[in-house]
Amino acid sequence: MNRDVTREHYDRLAATYDENWAYSPAFVEWMTGCILGRLRVGGGDVIADIGCGTGLYARGLAEHAAAVVCADASEAMLAQVPVSDGVTTVAARVEEIAAGRVLLPHDRFDAMLLKEVLHHVEDRAPVISGLARLLRPGGRMLVVMLPTQITYPLFGDALRLFAEHQPDPAGIADLMRVAGLRAELTHEGFPLAFSAERYLQMVRNRYMSLLSAFDDEQLEEGIAEIRRDHPEERIEFTDTFAFVLGVAA
Ligand SMILES: C[S@@+](CC[C@H](N)C(=O)[O-])C[C@H]1O[C@@H](n2cnc3c(N)ncnc32)[C@H](O)[C@@H]1O
Repeated sequence: MNRDVTREHYDRLAATYDENWAYSPAFVEWMTGCILGRLRVGGGDVIADIGCGTGLYARGLAEHAAAVVCADASEAMLAQVPVSDGVTTVAARVEEIAAGRVLLPHDRFDAMLLKEVLHHVEDRAPVISGLARLLRPGGRMLVVMLPTQITYPLFGDALRLFAEHQPDPAGIADLMRVAGLRAELTHEGFPLAFSAERYLQMVRNRYMSLLSAFDDEQLEEGIAEIRRDHPEERIEFTDTFAFVLGVAA
């Protein structure tokens, strides 16, 4: 997807994003724990959440840190970020931040979160190295992303499109090393269960950006395919994420 299509996708999704992703407070709590533990967030930390979306995870960060800067390319997504002490928002693309064309309200960060945003970035090497320069010594950068193979109950064409475009988390770890960070890759999964009706409505709402590549007719065909493959009332699968942690010397 080009940058305008990506921004339009998230602008359209902004108002309902949390309904799709906060489907289970337990999931958000689990993911927040995965992030806080890996970033080793401490009370005095200054944190950047880049590609923060609606601030679903910035909320948990803000409870444990001194300041959180939430940056996102979509103003509509940023408008959903809950206002609270220590949280500031910046409308900017990660490429502009990494290149120093947009300055954040702090010069250096103790921790940085990039959750499910790097697949939207074409040239990832300069972005990772530019952001790494914003870390304090000992600062942590956490990239949370889907692996290259997912077990979501989507239709064949969507799964193939995903596999074609999803960057490899191991490659992100390599880019962190090139940027001078010590990097490690781990995986963790959360079991999800939805009524079939709810899951299919999420697909119809194009809850994943890759579903924007399909027109309404293709999407309805895809939904019929999912229904054929999953005639059961409840749809269950494990949502596995890759966590790429980079630590500055
Ligand atoms: C899948 S959402 C993830 C939001 C949030 N990190 C979360 O996990 O809930 C991707 C977000 O990245 C933002 N985004 C996409 N491309 C971007 C870019 N080049 N620079 C900054 N933000 C971008 C979108 O506007 C959207 O809010």
